[in-house]
Amino acid sequence: MTTANSLYDLASYGLPSEAELEKLAARYFPELTPFESEASGADLKTYAPKALGDYEKESAYVSKPSRYGAVGARNIDSIRADFPILNQRLGANQLVWFDNAATTQKPQSVIDRLSYFYAYENSNIHRAAHDLAARATDAYEEARLKTARFLGAPSAESIAFVRGSTEGINLVARSFVKPKLKEGDEIVLTVLEHHANIVPWQIIAQETGALLRVAPVDESGQIILSQYAKLFNSRTKFAAFTHVSNALGTIVPIEALVSIAHSYGVKTLIDAAQSVSHIPLNVAALDADFLVFSGHKIYAPTGIGALYGKRELLEEADVYQGGGNMIADVTFERTIYQKPPAKFEAGTGSIADAAGLGAALDYVSSIGLENIFAYEHALLEYGARELKTVRGLRLIGTADHKTSILSFVIDGFSNERVGKFLNSKGIAVRSGHHCAQPALRNFGLEGSVRPSIAFYNTFEEIDYLIESLRELTRTF
Ligand code: ALA
Repeated sequence: MTTANSLYDLASYGLPSEAELEKLAARYFPELTPFESEASGADLKTYAPKALGDYEKESAYVSKPSRYGAVGARNIDSIRADFPILNQRLGANQLVWFDNAATTQKPQSVIDRLSYFYAYENSNIHRAAHDLAARATDAYEEARLKTARFLGAPSAESIAFVRGSTEGINLVARSFVKPKLKEGDEIVLTVLEHHANIVPWQIIAQETGALLRVAPVDESGQIILSQYAKLFNSRTKFAAFTHVSNALGTIVPIEALVSIAHSYGVKTLIDAAQSVSHIPLNVAALDADFLVFSGHKIYAPTGIGALYGKRELLEEADVYQGGGNMIADVTFERTIYQKPPAKFEAGTGSIADAAGLGAALDYVSSIGLENIFAYEHALLEYGARELKTVRGLRLIGTADHKTSILSFVIDGFSNERVGKFLNSKGIAVRSGHHCAQPALRNFGLEGSVRPSIAFYNTFEEIDYLIESLRELTRTF
Protein backbone atom coordinates (compact mmCIF):
# COMPACT_ATOMS: atom_id res chain seq x y z
CA MET A 1 0.00 0.00 0.00
CA THR A 2 1.17 3.49 -0.68
CA THR A 3 0.19 6.57 1.25
CA ALA A 4 -1.99 9.13 -0.44
CA ASN A 5 0.87 11.64 -0.69
CA SER A 6 3.63 9.42 -2.02
CA LEU A 7 5.15 9.98 -5.43
CA TYR A 8 4.16 6.46 -6.41
CA ASP A 9 0.60 7.43 -5.72
CA LEU A 10 0.90 10.52 -7.92
CA ALA A 11 2.05 8.34 -10.80
CA SER A 12 -0.71 5.81 -10.23
CA TYR A 13 -3.22 8.64 -10.62
CA GLY A 14 -1.63 9.54 -13.96
CA LEU A 15 -0.03 12.68 -12.48
CA PRO A 16 3.52 13.78 -13.37
CA SER A 17 6.40 12.57 -11.19
CA GLU A 18 8.38 15.00 -9.05
CA ALA A 19 11.17 15.05 -11.65
CA GLU A 20 8.66 15.92 -14.35
CA LEU A 21 7.17 18.62 -12.14
CA GLU A 22 10.63 20.12 -11.68
CA LYS A 23 11.13 20.19 -15.44
CA LEU A 24 7.76 21.88 -15.88
CA ALA A 25 8.58 24.42 -13.17
CA ALA A 26 11.92 25.18 -14.83
CA ARG A 27 10.13 25.78 -18.11
CA TYR A 28 7.45 28.09 -16.65
CA PHE A 29 9.49 29.88 -13.99
CA PRO A 30 13.03 29.81 -15.45
CA GLU A 31 14.39 32.69 -13.39
CA LEU A 32 12.90 31.39 -10.15
CA THR A 33 13.77 27.71 -10.37
CA PRO A 34 17.30 26.97 -11.58
CA PHE A 35 16.83 23.24 -11.48
CA GLU A 36 19.78 22.65 -13.86
CA SER A 37 22.24 20.15 -12.46
CA GLU A 38 25.00 22.78 -12.00
CA ALA A 39 22.81 24.83 -9.63
CA SER A 40 24.12 24.49 -6.11
CA GLY A 41 21.95 23.62 -3.13
CA ALA A 42 22.28 27.20 -1.92
CA ASP A 43 21.07 28.54 -5.25
CA LEU A 44 18.11 26.27 -5.13
CA LYS A 45 17.25 27.51 -1.68
CA THR A 46 17.57 31.12 -2.81
CA TYR A 47 15.62 30.85 -6.00
CA ALA A 48 13.03 28.14 -5.54
CA PRO A 49 9.52 29.55 -5.24
CA LYS A 50 8.33 29.53 -1.66
CA ALA A 51 5.88 26.98 -0.42
CA LEU A 52 3.30 28.23 2.07
CA GLY A 53 5.14 26.52 4.91
CA ASP A 54 8.29 28.56 4.24
CA TYR A 55 6.45 31.79 4.98
CA GLU A 56 5.21 30.25 8.20
CA LYS A 57 8.77 29.40 9.28
CA GLU A 58 10.01 32.88 8.38
CA SER A 59 7.28 34.51 10.34
CA ALA A 60 7.81 32.49 13.52
CA TYR A 61 8.29 35.74 15.33
CA VAL A 62 6.32 36.72 18.35
CA SER A 63 5.68 40.44 18.49
CA LYS A 64 6.33 42.21 21.75
CA PRO A 65 3.21 42.75 23.82
CA SER A 66 1.82 46.24 23.61
CA ARG A 67 2.21 48.35 26.71
CA TYR A 68 -1.05 50.06 26.06
CA GLY A 69 -4.42 49.23 25.43
CA ALA A 70 -7.57 47.53 24.90
CA VAL A 71 -10.24 47.95 22.30
CA GLY A 72 -13.45 47.67 24.28
CA ALA A 73 -13.23 44.45 26.25
CA ARG A 74 -10.44 43.02 24.07
CA ASN A 75 -6.77 43.34 24.93
CA ILE A 76 -4.79 44.68 21.96
CA ASP A 77 -2.42 41.69 21.97
CA SER A 78 -5.29 39.24 21.72
CA ILE A 79 -6.73 41.28 18.84
CA ARG A 80 -3.38 41.17 17.04
CA ALA A 81 -3.27 37.42 17.52
CA ASP A 82 -6.48 37.20 15.45
CA PHE A 83 -4.57 38.50 12.38
CA PRO A 84 -1.92 35.93 11.43
CA ILE A 85 -0.28 38.13 8.78
CA LEU A 86 0.73 40.73 11.38
CA ASN A 87 2.97 38.27 13.15
CA GLN A 88 5.79 38.17 10.62
CA ARG A 89 9.11 39.75 9.82
CA LEU A 90 10.13 41.47 6.64
CA GLY A 91 13.86 40.79 6.58
CA ALA A 92 15.13 41.81 10.00
CA ASN A 93 12.08 43.84 11.00
CA GLN A 94 8.66 43.01 12.19
CA LEU A 95 5.94 43.99 9.73
CA VAL A 96 4.13 47.18 10.69
CA TRP A 97 0.98 47.48 8.59
CA PHE A 98 0.12 51.15 8.22
CA ASP A 99 -1.52 50.78 4.80
CA ASN A 100 -5.02 50.10 6.08
CA ALA A 101 -6.69 52.74 3.92
CA ALA A 102 -5.50 50.78 0.87
CA THR A 103 -6.61 47.45 2.28
CA THR A 104 -7.03 45.85 5.70
CA GLN A 105 -5.64 42.54 6.90
CA LYS A 106 -7.92 39.58 7.51
CA PRO A 107 -8.71 37.94 10.85
CA GLN A 108 -8.49 34.16 11.14
CA SER A 109 -12.30 33.94 11.34
CA VAL A 110 -12.57 35.40 7.81
CA ILE A 111 -9.81 33.14 6.49
CA ASP A 112 -11.57 30.16 8.10
CA ARG A 113 -14.92 31.17 6.66
CA LEU A 114 -13.48 31.13 3.13
CA SER A 115 -11.88 27.72 3.71
CA TYR A 116 -15.10 26.36 5.17
CA PHE A 117 -17.07 27.55 2.16
CA TYR A 118 -14.74 25.84 -0.28
CA ALA A 119 -14.49 22.71 1.86
CA TYR A 120 -18.20 22.20 2.57
CA GLU A 121 -20.50 24.57 0.72
CA ASN A 122 -19.06 25.41 -2.69
CA SER A 123 -21.68 25.56 -5.42
CA ASN A 124 -23.26 28.15 -7.62
CA ILE A 125 -26.29 29.75 -6.02
CA HIS A 126 -30.01 29.98 -6.75
CA ARG A 127 -29.85 27.74 -9.78
CA ALA A 128 -29.72 24.11 -8.74
CA ALA A 129 -31.82 21.53 -6.94
CA HIS A 130 -29.04 20.03 -4.84
CA ASP A 131 -27.92 20.43 -1.24
CA LEU A 132 -24.70 22.28 -1.93
CA ALA A 133 -26.56 24.91 -3.97
CA ALA A 134 -28.83 25.40 -0.98
CA ARG A 135 -25.84 25.74 1.38
CA ALA A 136 -24.08 28.21 -0.90
CA THR A 137 -27.27 30.21 -1.40
CA ASP A 138 -27.82 30.32 2.37
CA ALA A 139 -24.25 31.50 2.91
CA TYR A 140 -24.64 34.25 0.29
CA GLU A 141 -28.04 35.44 1.48
CA GLU A 142 -27.03 35.30 5.13
CA ALA A 143 -24.15 37.63 4.26
CA ARG A 144 -26.60 40.00 2.59
CA LEU A 145 -28.73 40.03 5.74
CA LYS A 146 -25.66 40.67 7.92
CA THR A 147 -24.63 43.53 5.64
CA ALA A 148 -28.11 45.07 5.84
CA ARG A 149 -28.07 44.84 9.65
CA PHE A 150 -24.57 46.29 9.84
CA LEU A 151 -25.66 49.34 7.82
CA GLY A 152 -29.01 49.74 9.60
CA ALA A 153 -30.80 49.06 6.30
CA PRO A 154 -34.50 48.24 6.47
CA SER A 155 -34.20 44.96 4.53
CA ALA A 156 -31.74 42.61 2.86
CA GLU A 157 -33.39 43.46 -0.48
CA SER A 158 -31.89 46.94 -0.28
CA ILE A 159 -28.35 45.50 -0.50
CA ALA A 160 -26.84 44.56 -3.88
CA PHE A 161 -23.48 42.81 -3.83
CA VAL A 162 -20.90 44.46 -6.07
CA ARG A 163 -17.13 44.07 -6.47
CA GLY A 164 -16.52 47.11 -4.31
CA SER A 165 -17.22 50.81 -3.91
CA THR A 166 -16.00 51.59 -7.44
CA GLU A 167 -18.48 49.23 -9.04
CA GLY A 168 -21.27 50.49 -6.78
CA ILE A 169 -20.63 54.10 -7.82
CA ASN A 170 -20.47 53.18 -11.51
CA LEU A 171 -23.72 51.26 -11.14
CA VAL A 172 -25.57 54.23 -9.61
CA ALA A 173 -24.05 56.65 -12.15
CA ARG A 174 -25.05 54.52 -15.16
CA SER A 175 -28.32 53.03 -14.01
CA PHE A 176 -29.89 55.69 -11.83
CA VAL A 177 -28.39 59.06 -12.70
CA LYS A 178 -27.46 58.99 -16.39
CA PRO A 179 -30.99 58.22 -17.66
CA LYS A 180 -32.18 61.43 -15.90
CA LEU A 181 -29.45 63.75 -17.26
CA LYS A 182 -29.71 66.24 -20.08
CA GLU A 183 -27.37 68.95 -21.31
CA GLY A 184 -26.72 71.65 -18.71
CA ASP A 185 -27.78 69.49 -15.72
CA GLU A 186 -25.40 69.42 -12.78
CA ILE A 187 -23.90 66.85 -10.42
CA VAL A 188 -22.40 68.08 -7.14
CA LEU A 189 -19.17 66.47 -5.86
CA THR A 190 -16.53 67.63 -3.38
CA VAL A 191 -12.83 68.26 -3.86
CA LEU A 192 -12.10 65.43 -1.40
CA GLU A 193 -13.30 62.62 -3.65
CA HIS A 194 -11.35 59.52 -4.56
CA HIS A 195 -11.00 59.15 -8.33
CA ALA A 196 -13.65 56.42 -8.14
CA ASN A 197 -16.14 59.08 -7.07
CA ILE A 198 -15.08 61.53 -9.79
CA VAL A 199 -14.43 59.61 -13.00
CA PRO A 200 -17.78 57.74 -13.28
CA TRP A 201 -19.63 61.08 -12.94
CA GLN A 202 -17.28 62.75 -15.40
CA ILE A 203 -17.95 60.00 -17.95
CA ILE A 204 -21.74 60.31 -17.73
CA ALA A 205 -21.45 64.12 -17.74
CA GLN A 206 -19.41 63.96 -20.95
CA GLU A 207 -21.92 61.57 -22.50
CA THR A 208 -24.90 63.81 -21.71
CA GLY A 209 -23.53 67.36 -21.68
CA ALA A 210 -24.04 67.65 -17.92
CA LEU A 211 -21.59 69.54 -15.66
CA LEU A 212 -19.75 68.70 -12.44
CA ARG A 213 -19.86 71.26 -9.61
CA VAL A 214 -17.20 70.78 -6.95
CA ALA A 215 -17.43 71.82 -3.30
CA PRO A 216 -14.27 73.38 -1.85
CA VAL A 217 -12.60 72.69 1.51
CA ASP A 218 -11.02 75.00 4.06
CA GLU A 219 -7.30 74.91 4.92
CA SER A 220 -7.85 72.03 7.35
CA GLY A 221 -9.42 69.89 4.63
CA GLN A 222 -13.04 70.20 5.78
CA ILE A 223 -16.01 70.96 3.51
CA ILE A 224 -17.25 74.55 3.85
CA LEU A 225 -20.97 73.93 4.34
CA SER A 226 -22.09 77.43 3.31
CA GLN A 227 -20.21 77.01 0.01
CA TYR A 228 -21.61 73.52 -0.40
CA ALA A 229 -25.20 74.76 -0.17
CA LYS A 230 -24.49 77.43 -2.81
CA LEU A 231 -23.73 74.76 -5.43
CA PHE A 232 -27.33 73.56 -5.56
CA ASN A 233 -29.95 74.97 -7.91
CA SER A 234 -32.78 73.80 -10.13
CA ARG A 235 -30.33 72.12 -12.54
CA THR A 236 -28.78 69.92 -9.82
CA LYS A 237 -29.67 66.29 -10.50
CA PHE A 238 -27.48 64.36 -8.06
CA ALA A 239 -24.86 64.74 -5.31
CA ALA A 240 -22.11 62.25 -4.40
CA PHE A 241 -19.61 62.62 -1.57
CA THR A 242 -17.20 60.67 0.50
CA HIS A 243 -17.74 60.09 4.22
CA VAL A 244 -14.00 60.04 5.00
CA SER A 245 -11.29 61.43 2.71
CA ASN A 246 -8.82 58.69 1.80
CA ALA A 247 -6.02 61.25 1.33
CA LEU A 248 -6.62 63.46 4.39
CA GLY A 249 -8.78 61.50 6.82
CA THR A 250 -11.37 64.31 7.10
CA ILE A 251 -14.72 63.07 8.41
CA VAL A 252 -17.25 64.83 6.24
CA PRO A 253 -20.50 65.87 8.01
CA ILE A 254 -22.60 63.65 5.75
CA GLU A 255 -25.81 64.24 7.74
CA ALA A 256 -25.59 67.93 6.77
CA LEU A 257 -24.70 67.18 3.13
CA VAL A 258 -27.61 64.76 2.74
CA SER A 259 -29.97 67.26 4.30
CA ILE A 260 -28.79 70.15 2.08
CA ALA A 261 -29.19 67.99 -1.03
CA HIS A 262 -32.62 66.77 0.08
CA SER A 263 -33.78 70.33 0.70
CA TYR A 264 -33.27 70.83 -3.07
CA GLY A 265 -34.99 67.52 -3.86
CA VAL A 266 -31.63 66.01 -4.90
CA LYS A 267 -30.73 62.35 -4.25
CA THR A 268 -27.31 61.44 -2.88
CA LEU A 269 -24.64 58.75 -2.84
CA ILE A 270 -22.33 58.31 0.15
CA ASP A 271 -18.94 56.73 -0.53
CA ALA A 272 -18.29 54.90 2.75
CA ALA A 273 -15.16 53.07 1.53
CA GLN A 274 -12.97 54.83 4.10
CA SER A 275 -15.47 55.13 6.92
CA VAL A 276 -17.14 51.72 7.10
CA SER A 277 -14.38 50.18 9.25
CA HIS A 278 -14.10 53.18 11.59
CA ILE A 279 -17.48 54.84 12.11
CA PRO A 280 -20.88 53.22 12.83
CA LEU A 281 -23.28 53.81 9.95
CA ASN A 282 -27.05 53.82 9.93
CA VAL A 283 -28.48 54.44 6.49
CA ALA A 284 -32.05 54.71 7.81
CA ALA A 285 -31.12 57.40 10.36
CA LEU A 286 -29.06 59.22 7.71
CA ASP A 287 -31.94 59.04 5.23
CA ALA A 288 -29.23 57.93 2.76
CA ASP A 289 -30.42 57.30 -0.78
CA PHE A 290 -27.39 55.26 -1.87
CA LEU A 291 -24.28 54.17 0.02
CA VAL A 292 -21.37 52.02 -1.13
CA PHE A 293 -18.47 50.29 0.61
CA SER A 294 -15.77 47.74 -0.20
CA GLY A 295 -15.39 44.57 1.85
CA HIS A 296 -11.61 44.58 1.75
CA LYS A 297 -11.47 47.87 3.66
CA ILE A 298 -13.30 46.20 6.56
CA TYR A 299 -11.24 43.03 7.06
CA ALA A 300 -13.18 41.06 4.40
CA PRO A 301 -11.83 39.66 1.12
CA THR A 302 -11.25 41.72 -2.01
CA GLY A 303 -13.77 41.43 -4.84
CA ILE A 304 -16.86 41.89 -2.68
CA GLY A 305 -18.63 45.05 -1.59
CA ALA A 306 -22.11 46.37 -1.15
CA LEU A 307 -24.43 48.96 -2.60
CA TYR A 308 -27.25 50.09 -0.35
CA GLY A 309 -30.14 51.82 -2.06
CA LYS A 310 -33.60 52.85 -0.94
CA ARG A 311 -35.92 50.19 -2.26
CA GLU A 312 -37.92 52.52 -4.52
CA LEU A 313 -34.74 54.00 -6.00
CA LEU A 314 -33.29 50.57 -6.75
CA GLU A 315 -36.56 49.69 -8.45
CA GLU A 316 -36.47 52.92 -10.46
CA ALA A 317 -32.86 52.33 -11.60
CA ASP A 318 -32.17 50.69 -14.96
CA VAL A 319 -30.40 47.34 -15.08
CA TYR A 320 -26.60 47.56 -14.98
CA GLN A 321 -25.25 44.45 -16.69
CA GLY A 322 -27.24 41.81 -18.56
CA GLY A 323 -26.81 38.08 -18.00
CA GLY A 324 -27.92 35.17 -15.91
CA ASN A 325 -29.31 35.63 -12.38
CA MET A 326 -30.75 39.09 -13.12
CA ILE A 327 -33.57 37.78 -15.33
CA ALA A 328 -37.06 36.45 -14.63
CA ASP A 329 -37.80 35.43 -18.23
CA VAL A 330 -35.94 35.69 -21.54
CA THR A 331 -37.12 35.45 -25.14
CA PHE A 332 -35.30 36.79 -28.19
CA GLU A 333 -37.80 39.63 -28.30
CA ARG A 334 -37.59 40.86 -24.71
CA THR A 335 -36.37 40.10 -21.19
CA ILE A 336 -38.23 40.47 -17.92
CA TYR A 337 -35.84 41.36 -15.14
CA GLN A 338 -35.72 40.24 -11.53
CA LYS A 339 -36.55 42.66 -8.77
CA PRO A 340 -33.66 44.32 -6.90
CA PRO A 341 -31.17 43.29 -5.72
CA ALA A 342 -30.96 40.31 -8.16
CA LYS A 343 -31.63 42.77 -11.02
CA PHE A 344 -28.12 44.17 -10.43
CA GLU A 345 -26.31 40.86 -9.91
CA ALA A 346 -25.76 39.45 -13.40
CA GLY A 347 -23.47 36.42 -13.60
CA THR A 348 -21.91 34.41 -10.81
CA GLY A 349 -20.93 36.64 -7.92
CA SER A 350 -18.11 36.30 -5.40
CA ILE A 351 -20.05 33.83 -3.29
CA ALA A 352 -17.32 32.74 -0.87
CA ASP A 353 -16.14 36.32 -0.52
CA ALA A 354 -19.66 37.40 0.42
CA ALA A 355 -19.62 34.76 3.16
CA GLY A 356 -16.20 36.16 4.18
CA LEU A 357 -17.72 39.64 4.31
CA GLY A 358 -20.43 38.34 6.65
CA ALA A 359 -17.73 36.87 8.91
CA ALA A 360 -15.78 40.14 8.87
CA LEU A 361 -18.86 42.14 9.87
CA ASP A 362 -19.52 39.64 12.68
CA TYR A 363 -15.93 40.05 13.83
CA VAL A 364 -16.05 43.86 13.82
CA SER A 365 -19.45 43.82 15.55
CA SER A 366 -18.11 41.53 18.27
CA ILE A 367 -15.51 44.18 19.12
CA GLY A 368 -17.81 47.13 18.54
CA LEU A 369 -17.24 49.98 16.09
CA GLU A 370 -17.62 52.55 18.88
CA ASN A 371 -14.73 50.86 20.72
CA ILE A 372 -12.71 50.66 17.50
CA PHE A 373 -13.28 54.36 16.77
CA ALA A 374 -12.26 55.40 20.30
CA TYR A 375 -9.03 53.36 20.26
CA GLU A 376 -8.09 54.46 16.75
CA HIS A 377 -8.81 58.06 17.65
CA ALA A 378 -6.36 57.88 20.55
CA LEU A 379 -3.75 56.41 18.19
CA LEU A 380 -4.43 59.09 15.60
CA GLU A 381 -4.09 61.96 18.08
CA TYR A 382 -0.89 60.49 19.49
CA GLY A 383 0.50 59.93 15.99
CA ALA A 384 -0.36 63.47 14.82
CA ARG A 385 1.24 64.99 17.92
CA GLU A 386 4.44 62.96 17.57
CA LEU A 387 4.76 63.35 13.80
CA LYS A 388 4.83 67.12 14.21
CA THR A 389 8.09 66.72 16.16
CA VAL A 390 9.90 65.27 13.12
CA ARG A 391 12.11 67.90 11.48
CA GLY A 392 10.62 69.33 8.27
CA LEU A 393 7.42 67.23 8.49
CA ARG A 394 4.11 68.82 7.54
CA LEU A 395 0.79 67.09 8.21
CA ILE A 396 -1.68 67.35 5.35
CA GLY A 397 -5.30 67.35 6.49
CA THR A 398 -5.84 68.74 9.96
CA ALA A 399 -9.62 68.88 10.24
CA ASP A 400 -11.09 68.75 13.75
CA HIS A 401 -13.00 65.64 12.79
CA LYS A 402 -10.61 63.08 11.38
CA THR A 403 -10.07 59.37 11.42
CA SER A 404 -7.36 56.90 10.59
CA ILE A 405 -5.18 58.87 8.12
CA LEU A 406 -1.89 60.63 8.90
CA SER A 407 -0.85 62.13 5.56
CA PHE A 408 2.38 64.12 5.50
CA VAL A 409 5.28 65.45 3.45
CA ILE A 410 8.85 66.09 4.62
CA ASP A 411 10.88 69.03 3.30
CA GLY A 412 13.77 67.85 1.17
CA PHE A 413 12.58 64.23 0.89
CA SER A 414 10.48 62.88 -1.93
CA ASN A 415 7.44 60.86 -0.84
CA GLU A 416 8.80 57.88 -2.73
CA ARG A 417 12.08 58.06 -0.84
CA VAL A 418 10.30 58.22 2.52
CA GLY A 419 8.07 55.29 1.55
CA LYS A 420 11.06 53.19 0.50
CA PHE A 421 12.99 54.02 3.64
CA LEU A 422 10.04 53.05 5.83
CA ASN A 423 9.68 49.83 3.86
CA SER A 424 13.31 49.05 4.63
CA LYS A 425 12.26 49.26 8.30
CA GLY A 426 9.34 46.88 7.77
CA ILE A 427 6.78 49.71 7.84
CA ALA A 428 4.18 49.58 5.05
CA VAL A 429 2.68 52.96 4.09
CA ARG A 430 1.32 54.30 0.82
CA SER A 431 3.15 57.13 -0.87
CA GLY A 432 1.92 58.95 -3.97
CA HIS A 433 -1.36 60.56 -4.99
CA HIS A 434 -3.63 57.97 -3.30
CA CYS A 435 -6.08 58.12 -6.25
CA ALA A 436 -7.21 61.53 -5.00
CA GLN A 437 -5.22 64.01 -7.09
CA PRO A 438 -7.66 66.96 -6.81
CA ALA A 439 -7.70 66.65 -2.99
CA LEU A 440 -3.90 66.84 -2.79
CA ARG A 441 -3.53 69.48 -5.51
CA ASN A 442 -5.86 71.61 -3.43
CA PHE A 443 -2.93 71.76 -0.98
CA GLY A 444 -0.42 72.42 -3.76
CA LEU A 445 0.86 68.83 -3.65
CA GLU A 446 1.15 65.98 -6.13
CA GLY A 447 1.39 63.35 -3.40
CA SER A 448 2.07 62.57 0.23
CA VAL A 449 3.21 59.78 2.51
CA ARG A 450 0.16 58.18 4.08
CA PRO A 451 0.30 55.96 7.14
CA SER A 452 -3.25 54.76 7.82
CA ILE A 453 -4.40 53.15 11.03
CA ALA A 454 -6.53 50.19 12.04
CA PHE A 455 -7.49 48.95 15.50
CA TYR A 456 -4.77 46.27 15.45
CA ASN A 457 -2.08 48.97 15.30
CA THR A 458 -0.32 49.94 18.52
CA PHE A 459 1.22 52.96 20.18
CA GLU A 460 4.58 51.19 19.94
CA GLU A 461 4.20 50.99 16.16
CA ILE A 462 3.61 54.75 16.05
CA ASP A 463 6.75 55.23 18.19
CA TYR A 464 8.69 53.05 15.76
CA LEU A 465 7.39 55.05 12.78
CA ILE A 466 8.48 58.31 14.41
CA GLU A 467 11.86 56.85 15.39
CA SER A 468 12.40 55.68 11.80
CA LEU A 469 11.44 59.09 10.37
CA ARG A 470 13.84 60.76 12.81
CA GLU A 471 16.58 58.41 11.64
CA LEU A 472 15.84 59.28 8.01
CA THR A 473 15.83 63.05 8.56
CA ARG A 474 18.93 62.89 10.79
CA THR A 475 20.93 60.68 8.47
CA PHE A 476 20.44 62.65 5.28
N1 ALA B 1 -8.61 53.59 -2.25
C1 ALA B 1 -7.47 52.95 -1.73
C2 ALA B 1 -6.50 53.91 -1.10
O1 ALA B 1 -6.87 54.99 -0.72
C3 ALA B 1 -6.82 52.06 -2.69
O2 ALA B 1 -5.34 53.57 -0.96
